[in-house]
Amino acid sequence: MRKSTENAPGGDLTRRTVLKGATALVAVQAPMQVDAQQAAPPATSSMDAPPSRLRIRLTVNGQPRDLDVDTRTTLLDALRENLQLTGSKKGCDHGQCGACTVLADGRRINACLSLAVMHDGQSVTTIEGLARGEQLHPLQAAFIKRDGFQCGYCTPGQICSAVGMLSEVRAGMPSHVSASLERAGPFNEEEIRERMSGNICRCSCYPNIVAAIKDVAGGAA
Ligand code: FES
Ligand code: FES
Repeated sequence: MRKSTENAPGGDLTRRTVLKGATALVAVQAPMQVDAQQAAPPATSSMDAPPSRLRIRLTVNGQPRDLDVDTRTTLLDALRENLQLTGSKKGCDHGQCGACTVLADGRRINACLSLAVMHDGQSVTTIEGLARGEQLHPLQAAFIKRDGFQCGYCTPGQICSAVGMLSEVRAGMPSHVSASLERAGPFNEEEIRERMSGNICRCSCYPNIVAAIKDVAGGAA
């Protein structure tokens, strides 16, 4: 007596019918998969593409500078490697220490987080561009007078950041500790510490840095 039928009464499929169908399906699909694999285009990745370069013009510390840069070059690397302006330091290369701070069109930025090509046509000021000949920028003089540095690695970024910060205060930009979100001030030590909080000093010269900035801010701080 047969224990199962090809098609069970009521239209139910038997185990044998299912297995036969599956085998036929695999037989049809196998050549199709081979064809698909053979027809697949060779794998490419962005790593295979040649680097893309652009010519840009920056005005750096008052001097027009033409650069031919890989579009992936950061502003910090363009300044340090292409223009040999090594005053701006590479501390973390991740936007966390502020050692690379420069001014782009007067606004302070972390040059390690910004691509050089994004600044085409802009004016960039580094620590090398703050002095007027032999005459130090008032913040440079104040840092020396107040002993605002030890190893000095963070100092170029601290000074550029302080220049940008004082411009922001003059422009009425509030900080996170400003009493009003519509205007800056009152400009006090708490404001200085908050506004300079993106610039880390491993030597902890903060009290002297704050004193130097207060000296230059004068009555505003
Ligand atoms: S090097 Fe740019 S923030 Fe640290
Ligand atoms: S003076 Fe040493 S890290 Fe700032």
